Amino acid sequence: MTPEEFRRAGHELIDWIADHRTRVPDLPVAAQVRPGEVSAALPRTAPEHPEPFADVLADLDRVVVPGVTQTQSPGFYGWFPSNASLASVLGDIASGGVGALGITWQSAPALTEVEQVVTDWLRDLCGLSTQWRGAIQDTASTGCLVAMLAARERASGGSEHGGGLQALEAPLVVYTSPEAHSSVAKAALLAGFGADNLRYVEVDPVTRAMDPGALRQAMADDVAVGRVPAMVVAAVGTTGTTAMDPVPEIVAVAREHGAWVHVDAAMAGSAMLLPEMRHLFAGVDDADSLAWNPHKWMGTILDTSLLYVRDVDHLVSVMSTTPSYLCASTDAEVVQYKDWGIPLGRRFRALKLWFHLRLDGVEAIRERLRRDLDNARWLAAQVEAEPGWRVLAPVPLQTVCVVHEPPGLTGDALDAHTLAWVDAVNAGGRAYLGASRLDGRWMVRVSVGAEATERPDVAALWDLLRTTTARLAADGGATGRPGTVMS
Ligand SMILES: Cc1ncc(COP(=O)(O)O)c(C=O)c1O
Repeated sequence: MTPEEFRRAGHELIDWIADHRTRVPDLPVAAQVRPGEVSAALPRTAPEHPEPFADVLADLDRVVVPGVTQTQSPGFYGWFPSNASLASVLGDIASGGVGALGITWQSAPALTEVEQVVTDWLRDLCGLSTQWRGAIQDTASTGCLVAMLAARERASGGSEHGGGLQALEAPLVVYTSPEAHSSVAKAALLAGFGADNLRYVEVDPVTRAMDPGALRQAMADDVAVGRVPAMVVAAVGTTGTTAMDPVPEIVAVAREHGAWVHVDAAMAGSAMLLPEMRHLFAGVDDADSLAWNPHKWMGTILDTSLLYVRDVDHLVSVMSTTPSYLCASTDAEVVQYKDWGIPLGRRFRALKLWFHLRLDGVEAIRERLRRDLDNARWLAAQVEAEPGWRVLAPVPLQTVCVVHEPPGLTGDALDAHTLAWVDAVNAGGRAYLGASRLDGRWMVRVSVGAEATERPDVAALWDLLRTTTARLAADGGATGRPGTVMS
């Protein structure tokens, strides 16, 4: 494709994106395909010869759009928000267009230095102190794994340079909450700690936040049998209910054993942009690492996850490799992001943040976050006030966990009703919600925060929930479906 051909196709693509975004509110929110339907709509072999761009665009409408859950829809309340602000989409396109190879500072100095600047901007906007330095990772899952490798190496005195974990006499232990995201357990396994050395510390039954007293006891129990507390992953904004682990107390307990504290604020981190919400993040500045995702609520398109650490030198000592072909005379003066994480090559992801912040401006982002907090509180108040409905967990952020309890329905029958009404809402196409388990029973999470969702949308959702549950009750109950546990 020549630049001139690109120009023509590019204009058409931008028009298509703008038209698509305009149409999104009218599309069914849930993906409209059965398993295998998308692949069956595609040829079995790759084209030998160029196809017209119009055919490719037509297939976006015919094949791709129906195969996507419309997370940009005002009716999207599933999982967590996954906003893809159009300003950041432009940054993504620019990133591809520049075509930079990010392997070292020398390969694209601008890629490195724009990333340094925007991660510093966001650090300051979040009220973190200047002791933190950040890098963009693909996801919070990767951020957690990187933090875990750093913690492992600190606790083991650099075991990777010798016999690794296999040569240690005392097992290293990781502590987290049972409410923590599944990526924490995955990282602990991948980092070699082993499932036997992953502790799920008790949580408060109401707030579902980690109990620091239980953490202290768990660490003492491990030390008593010769194990070494190596790391705590504090979940600040858990996936199920957005519970906030008490970081100051966790840091204090961890410090007694020299354990690393990683704060997983993948979802909640966006709220740090709001000074009035910072009390929820007290103590974070004293942790060792922090991950949060602008690609969730804040709205910089995937994949834009931030990992901040306080001891960059330690991180670099764990991650650094210096093959001769990557060495240059300026190495001592520059940041080499290849040494701050796992991949060598990186995209110019910083452009997504740079465009988003510059084109939308921080104040508009803050106002949107405030709007969503307000909408979630409004919804929670409606649910609380309605007979037969219950809010199941505190609502510190924008996710409301609800259950509808028709008289006389309990246990499995209540579960079946819950799954039936959430399926009915999702099948209707006007909204999308997620079911998830809490204390062994199904509940529904209403995660407010799509960029397009305004108060009238939330009010319409609340009407939809009440009419759907009333209809199912009038039809004489429901049958559930097997589901999956979130987190
Ligand atoms: C608390 C928490 N941590 C981590 C993750 C994983 O995020 P990512 O998809 O960026 O790996 C999620 C995803 O929702 C989450 O809610």
